[in-house]
Amino acid sequence: MTKALVVVTRRPPGSALEAIERAAEMWLWEEDRPIPGDRLAAAIGDAAGLYCMLTDAVDEALLRAAPGLRVVSTMSVGTDHIDLDACTAQGIAVGHTPDVLNETTADTAFALLMAATRRLGEGRDYVRAGEWQRWEPELLLGHDVHGSTLGIIGLGRVGQAIARRGLGFGMRVLYTARRRRPEAEASLGVVYRDLDGLLAESDHVVVATPLTPETTHLIDAAALGRMKPTATLVNISRGGTVDSDALAVALQSGEIAAAGLDVTDPEPIPAGHPLVGLANCFIVPHLGSSSRATRDAMADLAAANLLAGLTGERLPECANPEVYG
Ligand code: NDP
Ligand code: DGY
Repeated sequence: MTKALVVVTRRPPGSALEAIERAAEMWLWEEDRPIPGDRLAAAIGDAAGLYCMLTDAVDEALLRAAPGLRVVSTMSVGTDHIDLDACTAQGIAVGHTPDVLNETTADTAFALLMAATRRLGEGRDYVRAGEWQRWEPELLLGHDVHGSTLGIIGLGRVGQAIARRGLGFGMRVLYTARRRRPEAEASLGVVYRDLDGLLAESDHVVVATPLTPETTHLIDAAALGRMKPTATLVNISRGGTVDSDALAVALQSGEIAAAGLDVTDPEPIPAGHPLVGLANCFIVPHLGSSSRATRDAMADLAAANLLAGLTGERLPECANPEVYG
């Protein structure tokens, strides 16, 4: 019996490829960069499955090039690079990787909060520049994280893991979302605020929503203007939730104190971008889930989703459950 064809857009970590190769015929993009869209469209014609990354746009045009596609499996929890409605309309199940990355991503959010608020990047630059001559009573003073008020925008799986860290730091934790989470309020002791209230009351703010039309530029000039001048903004979601130009202005003018960014718009952010040159902006290249164990777990879960989709089983983690009717 001939095996179904699966297109894999990038070599994943761990042993995911071995599982895929045992069950399917595999076409792998071997290069150490994302596959260009036209090469993916050319490769996917006869494929029943697509194993992709968050750098691959899975849109209507690509789906038109893949009439036999039954499953799209992304090695990410975020699905903003995939047209979910178009997949559903074509009967294609979409797999993603929730939960396995919550704690690692929350660690990264907290690392960014600490680094930006306590000016660790500036401290490292200072040492490297040979400027550290003596202890100074007012050298690189930042603001406190412990005991402050943390505002989380998007109290989902990742947001709740961030909240638990905040509580461990003795912080008062506020959150906002489209609907209240009474169970999280009861179990964690987090407090709901509308967005404007959260921005005004929080000492530090973390964005942890998906990127959707509604969350695009959720943090714009007006939102930044509501934050405290001592506040740090952390973005762990997608770059597009924050207006980069407005953020650069707010950081330059002292409207807010600092930013810690795991994700940027544009992404990758060019070295000449105004945000990159700002001492009070601590940027890392989308490392949220980047521990060895977590990336292996994401790769394995994405493989499990793919293989279930090939055999017509319900995906372990499906991003468009409406595809099952
Ligand atoms: P969840 O779906 O569990 O949580 C998302 C939360 O955002 C929900 O609480 C949701 O609540 C809220 N939300 C959605 N829309 C809005 C809105 N318009 N205003 C306010 N809140 C909103 O997702 P995860 O926690 O698993 O992941 C969230 C996102 O984080 C991912 O989609 C991904 O883009 C990003 N991510 C980034 C990582 C990285 O490496 N930087 C790693 C992991 C995730 P409600 O529906 O009630 O509004
Ligand atoms: C995701 O999974 O959506 C992250 O951005 C990468 O882990």
